[in-house]
Amino acid sequence: MATAAEAAAMRQAITLAARALGATSPNPVVGCVVLDATGTVVGEGYHQRAGGPHAEVHALRAAGERARGGTAVVTLEPCNHTGRTGPCAQALVDAGIARVVYAVPDPTATATGGAHRLRSAGVEVEQGLLEGEARAGNIAWLTAVKSGRPYVTWKYAATLDGRIAAADRSSRWITSPESRADVHRLRAEADAVVVGSGTMRADDPHLAVRGIEGATQPLRVVVDTEGTAVKPGARILDDAAPTLVAVARDAATELPATELPDAVRLPRATGGGRGLDIPALLDTLHERGVRSVLLEGGPTLAGAFVAAGAVDRVVGYLAPVLLGAGPTALADAGIGTIADALRLDITETVRVGPDLRITAVPNSPEYKER
Ligand SMILES: NC(=O)c1ccc[n+]([C@@H]2O[C@H](COP(=O)([O-])OP(=O)(O)OC[C@H]3O[C@@H](n4cnc5c(N)ncnc54)[C@H](OP(=O)(O)O)[C@@H]3O)[C@@H](O)[C@H]2O)c1
Repeated sequence: MATAAEAAAMRQAITLAARALGATSPNPVVGCVVLDATGTVVGEGYHQRAGGPHAEVHALRAAGERARGGTAVVTLEPCNHTGRTGPCAQALVDAGIARVVYAVPDPTATATGGAHRLRSAGVEVEQGLLEGEARAGNIAWLTAVKSGRPYVTWKYAATLDGRIAAADRSSRWITSPESRADVHRLRAEADAVVVGSGTMRADDPHLAVRGIEGATQPLRVVVDTEGTAVKPGARILDDAAPTLVAVARDAATELPATELPDAVRLPRATGGGRGLDIPALLDTLHERGVRSVLLEGGPTLAGAFVAAGAVDRVVGYLAPVLLGAGPTALADAGIGTIADALRLDITETVRVGPDLRITAVPNSPEYKER
């Protein structure tokens, strides 16, 4: 049984892990707190970036000799493999740790086995403390490991009557400055921010993170089938963050031209559908190390993601504004009758300035299996 000090340490480890969201891919976020033999915190650490030391190593360094005979509390099973850094399970043994409490088992074939290695070395091991919270904090990475594609959050900003632009297509700004600042936090936590060619043409978006010190910039991605929406001088072409344009393999356009960014050629949607094949887009992003995507629209591309079963979380910012006309947040998602509606569970509602932020996740397992 875990002690109260270990539970408090796990809460702190989960908080520490969250600091690195958006900075560790293709690795998970991990936090670690080391307690000495009396249960006092003597070291804390988190995995800050891929290729850098793991959480356990940071925490053990901070603890030094005080780790001997103590307990390491970790959000994820300590790894058992030598990659760019050595196995954490061995580092814990070498530091003289007597007990390890971890929340979530490591599901990857290469890293798993850490608990076994620890037990074989005589360390007491306990799994499952605050597992739900720790899983939620690592949901993007865990989803990516399980499904082989990035975790997708679809974010939109709408009026209370569900419109994302007015009838004349003007849309700046529906939501408040507070909501827009909050979106920068979502971007900072994502590895890639994706928009369709329609949004590119209408808004000339910038898509980089602003106003968050030390944030890792996401890859900015435009899904532009014919390669005609991104024009020289577009704001996403500045050097604030990397940019990728996805175009059809057979698109007539010649990309990349000198002023255009990195481009990838993908198959068109199957079955005569519009645009590019969404699973192929997600595969390509996964191959590039992207584990979490923030889909920022617009409604047409979001509809295609929903139809492909590729939205894991919805974050809607609802402003107390009515328009009565104009495009709605989601366009055709291949749902023709109420029985096929994509039903969600609301996981959070928060007031952000004058607006309401609603977070929801699909509640049917079949959706994710599509
Ligand atoms: N308030 C908000 O949260 C928000 C967010 C974003 C946008 N918006 C607004 O939304 C409007 C633009 O909406 P939109 O629906 O035209 O833009 P969109 O969803 O950004 O882009 C749609 C375009 O993406 C391309 N595409 C590539 N692959 C696709 C696929 N598999 N399925 C569907 N489309 C694919 C298609 O054009 P090609 O095949 O020709 O490339 C399609 O026409 C603007 O008024 C913008 O201001 C609002």
